[in-house]
Amino acid sequence: MLALRGISKEYTSPAGPLRVLQSLDLSLPPGAKVSIMGPSGCGKSTLLAILGGLEAPTSGEYSLDGVNPYALAPAALASFRNRSIGFVFQDHCLLPQLTVLENVLVPTLASPSPDPAAAARARHLLHEAGLRARLDHFPAQLSGGEKQRTAIARALILEPRLLLCDEPTGNLDRASAAAAADLLLSLSGGPRMIIAVTHSAELASRFTTHFTLRDAALYAS
Ligand SMILES: Nc1ncnc2c1ncn2[C@@H]1O[C@H](COP(=O)(O)OP(=O)(O)OP(=O)(O)O)[C@@H](O)[C@H]1O
Ligand SMILES: [Mg+2]
Repeated sequence: MLALRGISKEYTSPAGPLRVLQSLDLSLPPGAKVSIMGPSGCGKSTLLAILGGLEAPTSGEYSLDGVNPYALAPAALASFRNRSIGFVFQDHCLLPQLTVLENVLVPTLASPSPDPAAAARARHLLHEAGLRARLDHFPAQLSGGEKQRTAIARALILEPRLLLCDEPTGNLDRASAAAAADLLLSLSGGPRMIIAVTHSAELASRFTTHFTLRDAALYAS
């Protein structure tokens, strides 16, 4: 369960305060598959940063499964983000010196104790991503679509309850974008929530709940 109550976000700019989000309320049940569209600069990435525990709102309350991440101490917040939230960005952000398999395992390195099942989970995710023959390749040896599917596997390695996607198919051609969307949705059954921000109506149509962000407010669409 995800809940936002009266979330506002203001940045300071040389021209004065910039109100990006104003009094947002949102409740999502476990398993929600959500798209958010809206014009450039309307605050979509800002909203994802708040949901991801990366950027505190100026005011309002956020809770994910009963936890308000912004009430946690910094180390606990970092751990919460690592365990509970997966991120997929427009750019794959893979580490060039690591193989595909090693890149997928990167989030597991933050764990205080070794996770003996992690490598098997990574292999399984990469098989599902159609990358069975690419485990030992380096990112430079992959196509754009393959890199993004690797990034999706990495986002899911710790089985987060919330997956946040910021333009996850923005750099891909139509076929690769469809394959990435297939992967996102096929690997996120059950209670995992997905929230995807996109300019692509085609990607948005794959989700079941739709919002538009405009004039600092969220509208069901
Ligand atoms: N750290 C910051 N400091 C000041 N202003 C910021 C900061 N981050 C974002 N903004 C401003 O907040 C507004 C919303 O930005 P945001 O990146 O959330 O938009 P967006 O909807 O994701 O746009 P796009 O579709 O182009 O990615 C913009 O006017 C942006 O310039
Ligand atoms: Mg953005």
